[in-house]
Amino acid sequence: MKLVSSMIALAILALSNHIFAETAPGTGKTKGDPAKGQQIATQVCAGCHNPDGNSVIPTNPSLAGQHAEYITKQLENFKSQEGKPPERASPIMGAMVAPLSAEDMKNLGAYYAQQVPKPVGAKDKPLAEQGEKIYRGGNLETGVPACAGCHSPNGVGIPPSYPRIAGQHGEYVLAQLRAFRTEERTKDPNNVMHMIASRMSEREMRTVSEFIAGLR
Ligand code: HEC
Ligand code: HEC
Repeated sequence: MKLVSSMIALAILALSNHIFAETAPGTGKTKGDPAKGQQIATQVCAGCHNPDGNSVIPTNPSLAGQHAEYITKQLENFKSQEGKPPERASPIMGAMVAPLSAEDMKNLGAYYAQQVPKPVGAKDKPLAEQGEKIYRGGNLETGVPACAGCHSPNGVGIPPSYPRIAGQHGEYVLAQLRAFRTEERTKDPNNVMHMIASRMSEREMRTVSEFIAGLR
């Protein structure tokens, strides 16, 4: 019995490695097609994210200039796999990704990555200045690392895994930091942003979100 189940586990592992190899982001032959991505973006996504991915609605993230691999990964995370709850919970985006294929997700990533981001700008400068301290230096007392370490000093991120956050809507950033703290955005207790957000105060989240909105 034990042998059988470990053989099944091995088979599943081999299979998932195979699938992963086929669909691994960033590997030359599996690059997305931005023209095909644009078709879906224009027909389905533009109403909320704008045709060029520079959202004008503060609760909807801007996607322009974001790393292709990160976008594809988030689209996968919104989709529930084999009846399990999705890694990233969003009723809206859950419905949006349901009809998308793996290929579509890659094409959409390729399209948005090519668009030119337009930073939204900070509305409250004093609040943003307080947030800059967290962004550049973190909080030593509570063990919050500097955001700049992974999202880079100017917020462009480091592809493929560390997203661009510069100029993103402050309202959206704040909502995401809260969602990382709870199980809304991740089911993984070792998710790095879950660990970071859990150590942040509400005040710190507010200030750093305002700073990020103005970052360019
Ligand atoms: C009805 C509005 C709406 C439509 C239409 C929509 N989105 Fe979204 N999208 C949202 C909202 C709201 C969020 C934030 C979800 C959350 O709270 O995590 C989001 C989040 C995302 C994210 C995550 C971005 C990040 O920075 O992590 C991606 C990627 C995305 N959408 C892509 C798409 C694509 C591709 C389509 C079209 C197939 C689409 N969206 C259609 C509203 C929409
Ligand atoms: C150790 C690296 C690391 C550090 C330090 C870090 N981040 Fe992140 N951040 C990530 C990764 C990886 C993701 C993608 C996580 C995911 O989707 O599961 C992310 C995602 C995010 C997102 C979501 C972006 C989007 O488009 O939805 C926000 C907002 C964010 N981080 C803000 C911050 C802030 C604010 C700080 C500093 C207090 C910070 N991060 C520090 C690695 C880091």
